[in-house]
Amino acid sequence: MNFELKTLDLTAAASLKNDVLIVLVSAAFKPARDTVSGLIAQARKSGDLDATPAKILSLWRADGVAAGRVLLVSTGEGHARQVRQAVTAAVASLKSAAPKSLTLWMEEASEQRLHAATQAVADTSYVYTATKPTAKANLLKRVVLGLPTVSQTKAAKSDFDHACALVAGVALAKEWGNRPANHATPSMLAKVAQTLGKKPRLRCEVLGPDQIHKLGMGSFAAVAQGSREPMRFIVLHYNGAAKSVAPTVLVGKGITFDTGGISIKPAAGMDEMKFDMCGAASVLGTFEALAQLQPAINVVGLIPTCENMPGGQALKPGDVVTSMSGQTIEVLNTDAEGRLILCDALTYAKRFKPCAVIDIATLTGACVVSLGHVRSGLFSASDELAHALQAAGEAALDPCWRLPLDDEYAEALKSNFADVANVGGRDGGAITAAKFLQRFAKDYPWAHLDIAGSAWKSGAAKGATGRPVGLLLHYLLGTEHKRQPKPTAVEPKSATRRRAPTRLA
Ligand code: BES
Ligand code: MN
Ligand code: ZN
Repeated sequence: MNFELKTLDLTAAASLKNDVLIVLVSAAFKPARDTVSGLIAQARKSGDLDATPAKILSLWRADGVAAGRVLLVSTGEGHARQVRQAVTAAVASLKSAAPKSLTLWMEEASEQRLHAATQAVADTSYVYTATKPTAKANLLKRVVLGLPTVSQTKAAKSDFDHACALVAGVALAKEWGNRPANHATPSMLAKVAQTLGKKPRLRCEVLGPDQIHKLGMGSFAAVAQGSREPMRFIVLHYNGAAKSVAPTVLVGKGITFDTGGISIKPAAGMDEMKFDMCGAASVLGTFEALAQLQPAINVVGLIPTCENMPGGQALKPGDVVTSMSGQTIEVLNTDAEGRLILCDALTYAKRFKPCAVIDIATLTGACVVSLGHVRSGLFSASDELAHALQAAGEAALDPCWRLPLDDEYAEALKSNFADVANVGGRDGGAITAAKFLQRFAKDYPWAHLDIAGSAWKSGAAKGATGRPVGLLLHYLLGTEHKRQPKPTAVEPKSATRRRAPTRLA
């Protein structure tokens, strides 16, 4: 899908030959003398344009409008959330019309409104086709975002670019989140990362079983040992700033299917555990967006990825494994596997001397109980990092909520047979999981995002959401002007170092 930003007053918007014209009408909208304004004024007068956000008045072959359909859509006070709601309703109402092109006009942009509008168009028109060839593909190819004045379009340019990159990043995260586990294996995720690694300023390394064992990642390897799919450890680099600038490291949980292992899950709804790599997908999506935007920052992405399967070779309850950090772990429940693969990635992260490490994981059902499907769980001992992530979530309409990390919660993880157990009791399950991870993240500012409730939807609308790419991208772009010790020395594109691909078992 191609987005364009254009200066269009309503007269120009009305003469544009796209299939549909969507006009966002806020309560403050003042009709001028043009045709569409006239329609709005009349509709208001006759009570046909309901001012409730997301109410639609649909017109067909209106006089003086080139587009076959016009949708007048109320946005209430015009807040970003209301714009999202309005555009979602409008594009959803066009499903059967299947337009190829549309103009989306708004009176006044803001960073948040632009993001909300573009993301709502992309999300609502998205159709999953990878393993469903009979699905009616999304035909919408051209979306023109119209703003009334030149000064507005100029001012909105960089926000618009950010919005487009975000759309691409979210799309990638959704696509790979949605693919079933037999079409999204660890090796396939590694291929996606390697393809990303060919873009300017990006680099990718993929480690296979031999290298992972050699690094001493005994905890990660223990989860993978029950599966015939070989594990992968993906390392992505985005280098947009000087080498001396400390990177932010993103760590994404990449369990491509979580059966629970020997502590097997109940059958009902188990298919949804194909989404257990949505943390990994959000890291891939964020790198896609970084590749488009080329900001002056450094970012490392780490993705431990494998399946969690039962089997003759599988990890057993009570087994004690040795993590890369040297700490031993008693695996009391093989279904608490996310923390077992993440802890070794958190230890690996140290080598980059990061300014911050953020892990993103569909980690606990308990987090869904706490926060439902609206906000992701946020954990951090650093107030500064927590505030920045919380603020980024609000700004990106991809919100999270901080939960505590008091040391008393760690009591539950005591083990008679190892340094730490991998589960506490049921109580405070999202917090004890975070306390487990914290043991491995002592050497840098760290935050953990539990996206078990926000990464996908169940029921009729079952599918990945692409969250929290919006939050992550917003946070990362916010670090651009903060940590620059000196003017950015950008490596010329041609000089970007690239490693020869490694052969894998
Ligand atoms: N991937 C799951 C978490 C999950 C469960 C996400 C349900 C979304 C919906 C994770 O690996 C898991 O199984 N966690 C266990 C931990 C428990 C054994 C301590 C859980 O939440 O039940
Ligand atoms: Mn599990
Ligand atoms: Zn899991």
